[in-house]
Amino acid sequence: MRITWAETDAERGDVQELFSHVFTGIEDNAVPLVAYDYMYAPLIAQIRDDGDRLVAAAMTCRTQVAAGSVLASRQGLPDRLGVLPLIDKHSELDLLAVDDSHRGLGYGSALLDHLESALAARGVRAWFGNVTVNLDAVSLRMFYRRHGFTVLPDFEPLPPLLGRKWHGPNLAAPQFWFYKRPGAGPRVPVDAA
Ligand SMILES: CC(C)(COP(=O)(O)OP(=O)(O)OC[C@H]1O[C@@H](n2cnc3c(N)ncnc32)[C@H](O)[C@@H]1OP(=O)(O)O)[C@@H](O)C(=O)NCCC(=O)NCCS
Repeated sequence: MRITWAETDAERGDVQELFSHVFTGIEDNAVPLVAYDYMYAPLIAQIRDDGDRLVAAAMTCRTQVAAGSVLASRQGLPDRLGVLPLIDKHSELDLLAVDDSHRGLGYGSALLDHLESALAARGVRAWFGNVTVNLDAVSLRMFYRRHGFTVLPDFEPLPPLLGRKWHGPNLAAPQFWFYKRPGAGPRVPVDAA
């Protein structure tokens, strides 16, 4: 399997389509256009089949901008992104999806590992994400634990990471949060608080 970065708007359109297919109700601009990379600093990893069809993708972004994208798209205030602080030691795993015809083959794991190495190389020290209530919480708990994440109990808020408290957008509480230090590998204590 070959993992590449989705670096063109055409590729990102495919990624958005996959995410929209797998996750009901996500914003139709959840995957940023290349023109906005200076704000979002996204890492968008993708796997395509031999016919160049996208079968799996994962996206992680700067945290404040991830919140801002929701604010902006809900309120039509993209200019507000400009005033949000940018914190490059944190990254939020926004979306990870494997086409249902290709699940259980290691693609999701490979994408996570790929993102993690890139984040570690960028100096990101707190990587986190959440699982919403409509997903398969039991399998996903195991999946993220196996990847070395600390997985919080259901509905427990994310603790301060590197001394910063994360205030997510004002949406329904997720089922659970998870976090780790990129590059720490599995079974290594996480650098929290
Ligand atoms: C979760 C997901 C990304 C995992 O990708 P994958 O390529 O199937 O995962 P891998 O092959 O690397 O690892 C398989 C593990 O994923 C976990 N898993 C979670 N949901 C799964 C699903 N629907 N199908 C298969 N495995 C799933 C299982 O624990 C499985 O462990 P096992 O091998 O011990 O049975 C993928 O199943 C998916 O896209 N699910 C729907 C969207 C989703 O829930 N995304 C995560 C949101 S935070």
